[in-house]
Amino acid sequence: MRILVTADLHYDIRRSRSSVETLAERVCRTDADALVLVGDTAGAEHQPLRDCLGLFADFTGRKFIVPGNHCLWCLPGENSIQRYEQIIPAIAANAGFTVLDHEPVIIDGVGLIGSVGWYDYSYRDEALGIPPAFYRAKVSPGAAARLGEYSGLIEEFREQLSGRHFDITVRWMDGLRMRMEMSDEEFLDYVLDRLHMQLEAFDSDERVRQVAAFVHHLPFRQLVPTGRPDKFTFAAAYLGSDKIGDTLRACPKVTHVFCGHSHWPGKCRIGKIDVVNIGSTYIHKNLEVLDL
Ligand SMILES: [Fe+2]
Ligand SMILES: [Fe+2]
Repeated sequence: MRILVTADLHYDIRRSRSSVETLAERVCRTDADALVLVGDTAGAEHQPLRDCLGLFADFTGRKFIVPGNHCLWCLPGENSIQRYEQIIPAIAANAGFTVLDHEPVIIDGVGLIGSVGWYDYSYRDEALGIPPAFYRAKVSPGAAARLGEYSGLIEEFREQLSGRHFDITVRWMDGLRMRMEMSDEEFLDYVLDRLHMQLEAFDSDERVRQVAAFVHHLPFRQLVPTGRPDKFTFAAAYLGSDKIGDTLRACPKVTHVFCGHSHWPGKCRIGKIDVVNIGSTYIHKNLEVLDL
């Protein structure tokens, strides 16, 4: 069985479009058995997601998607849980895609499972010395200092902040665009509880020989880029959590894991699992081929 895997198509962003269209033409010319889009296919607007999924209309294999954080960004009146549970699955179904988070499948003895994953700030670099409150607010000290609404945060922690901290001017846009009543830690547990139950079902299912998992956020800290400028070190807090990897490793049938999100390609082996970060950027889109 041949599975094609890509991620971070970001079809709502103009500079992503031509490379997505080229990739989609290439995918449609293959006779692969399945295609998986591992998150951040588009943003809050519905039409770019529809348009992007429509590019794969001529692909003859099974089509799967997992949402990314950008897919859960909200239009006015929406909330992110509603997007995760209802809106994205409905748009996907209309285009012939199945959301793996909600419907794991078995093809030729291989279980395909998926999750948006999430983050709990545990990948933050403690050595950077930024107080946890900034990560929770999804704003770096430099950005907070420029935005009047965070003056209280700056005042509270001023004595712990240095010039290096104020030079980091980053907002993690989930803070503005996500809308949900759970904390990030609660949402991570929410999606992992589901993933755990699905993996247990595969583990006890004799039809499932092995499992390939597709998770938008990074399941293992070995994939977190290191040695990059401070703004990326700050953003590492939002890349994922080892709790995702722990959940996957608890199922001995998991042999392959694919993720995206960091826009930074990487491969590693964790125990018996081959792990691939697709590494698409806004401009260049990567396609991985998995033969099982
Ligand atoms: Fe992305
Ligand atoms: Fe993402």
